[in-house]
Amino acid sequence: MSFTRQALFEEISPAISSEHGKVTIVGVGQVGMACAYSILQQNLANEICLVDVVADKLKGEMMDLQHGLAFTKHCTVKADTDYSITAGSKLCVITAGARQREGETRLSLVQRNVEIFKGIVPKLVQYSPDTLIMVVSNPVDILTYVTWKLSGLPREKVFGSGTNLDSARFRFLLSERLNIAPSSCHGWIIGEHGDSSVAVWSGVNVAGVNLHEIVPIGLEGDTDNWEQEVHRKVIDSAYEIIKLKGYTSWAIGLSVAKIVHGIVGNTRNVYALSTNVKGFHGINDDVFLSLPVVLGSNGLTHIVKQNLSETEISQLQKSAESLLEVQNSLKL
Ligand SMILES: NC(=O)c1ccc[n+]([C@@H]2O[C@H](COP(=O)([O-])OP(=O)(O)OC[C@H]3O[C@@H](n4cnc5c(N)ncnc54)[C@H](O)[C@@H]3O)[C@@H](O)[C@H]2O)c1
Repeated sequence: MSFTRQALFEEISPAISSEHGKVTIVGVGQVGMACAYSILQQNLANEICLVDVVADKLKGEMMDLQHGLAFTKHCTVKADTDYSITAGSKLCVITAGARQREGETRLSLVQRNVEIFKGIVPKLVQYSPDTLIMVVSNPVDILTYVTWKLSGLPREKVFGSGTNLDSARFRFLLSERLNIAPSSCHGWIIGEHGDSSVAVWSGVNVAGVNLHEIVPIGLEGDTDNWEQEVHRKVIDSAYEIIKLKGYTSWAIGLSVAKIVHGIVGNTRNVYALSTNVKGFHGINDDVFLSLPVVLGSNGLTHIVKQNLSETEISQLQKSAESLLEVQNSLKL
């Protein structure tokens, strides 16, 4: 190979691999590959680096993506079981781990995935000390806390994909009912990515018209049953999809790509991401759950101070309590 290259090229200066826009994805399962595919399709990285423990699958996925590179904008795709390949990553996305079984809650996955993370996080930081880390594996809030602890990185550099997906599901369900585009339905799901998530009904609006000012959501007179039928469906969506197809993948892939877009483009968009919420809404512990945050190329820069209703604050605090209980039971 080097003979052919020498015959074909006259080197002027050595090629360097650009450090800008290198995104590592750990775990090439359904979620990892949906993330990789969305990132590749949307031209969000100039290098995608895949890591997994199953060497054959890893190589197969790498080759499959590489064979599409003639149809995408410039990107390099690499893969290895050795973490040295991840050196210089701008962002590492962790999707590795066991996934929920049918009927299993996200929280019951926890200790299995903590053990896996002990083998992943220190190596990512060793090779990319300045990286941002986005956790996607479930239970995402707890594992984001675990990653923050294991990595030693500052809080702004470690976050979870959180309720960005739940918020998208919420907006889709609102859009179906209102017969307008999901992007024109403004609403946030915050708190745990999971069973105790909080729908911020006080802020749901279309063109600035607050839904709760025209419908008594969650109260008597809410004949359209918004809380039960819309928020409940958001919570149940993952369980339903897992029952139907075995896993969820496409929407989380698109959700992650949107977040990556915010980072590589330094767009300063606001996303519902899992972060350390100590000091917000009466929560006084190092607990990770989702609030709207401003994201730039150096990570999280601001948390939006939402005007939540009393009910929403108390739901959020309950969410924090249940996560803290799990956190305290972990063997780190
Ligand atoms: N946060 C979200 O919104 C969201 C949405 C969907 C799924 N998930 C979670 O994402 C995770 C992955 O789901 P999936 O469907 O892709 O599962 P999967 O079983 O298809 O893939 C998991 C991958 O992780 C790899 N892996 C296991 N141990 C590893 C290790 N030590 N190092 C590197 N790789 C390792 C496996 O080999 C496999 O390829 C699960 O925890 C799931 O619950 C999160």
